[in-house]
Amino acid sequence: MTAKQYCSKIEPSTQGKKELSCRKRIHFASIDSTNNWAKENPEQWNAEGLTLVTASEQFAGRGRFKRQWVSPPDVNIYATFCLWLDPKREDIGHIPQLLALVVANVLEQHNFFPQIKWPNDILLQSKKVAGILCEAIYVGEHRGVVCGIGLNVNMGAEELNKIDRPATSLAVEAGHLLEVDTLLESLTEQFAKALAIFMADGFTTFFLDFQKRSSLKQGDIVRFHDNQSVINAHFEALCPNGAVLLKLASGQIKAFYAGEFN
Ligand code: BTN
Repeated sequence: MTAKQYCSKIEPSTQGKKELSCRKRIHFASIDSTNNWAKENPEQWNAEGLTLVTASEQFAGRGRFKRQWVSPPDVNIYATFCLWLDPKREDIGHIPQLLALVVANVLEQHNFFPQIKWPNDILLQSKKVAGILCEAIYVGEHRGVVCGIGLNVNMGAEELNKIDRPATSLAVEAGHLLEVDTLLESLTEQFAKALAIFMADGFTTFFLDFQKRSSLKQGDIVRFHDNQSVINAHFEALCPNGAVLLKLASGQIKAFYAGEFN
């Protein structure tokens, strides 16, 4: 596997915030998974700022819950953002939500109407267009965060049909192809800026925007997997701490911190 690497400056637009000064990008024509590579090569990460690992295709792309992420060549974004996060910070779970919000904002700038399905799926017309897999690694006393995004950009209907749940791409929704590199550039710029704010102030300033974009509304009947069991409940609310509140059949309102709706 050969990688192309470069380093570029991020504009210091987030005044007063600690800038993620240097962004390094490592690109592969083909790789098993950008998240795998990032986790196996922390010594290649930028020590200060953001590192971006991308691939034109993945032959073993991974999704949440050990699912496959279908990653055909040259049509989509497969990108992993790597950063070092103080291990004392307890808000790591907000990083994929922050990325989901940035993806939603970028798609809206391109005239799409995205929604976010808790915890961090991005939907168009109730179908998944992007997913995020966030993982942590520990190197000595340092904690690294690997936040991988797969965004279906120009994937055609035939490939989408290979996915075992409702999925779509930007091209299918828009009826025309989009520039993968331009989208990735916007995504990276906007995520770097959002991260600088998050590092200083946490997720609070983003929560209302995140909540506004939720695909779930209070009272919706939902089916929820919490890793152990399937729960039929009513959606109650999203919490600023990242949890989701569900009203169980007993009437009890319970907070869940991990799991997914289907
Ligand atoms: C999900 O919704 O299940 C998460 C999908 C995450 C896919 C991306 S593609 C880039 C990165 N590399 C991987 O193997 N997975 C993530």
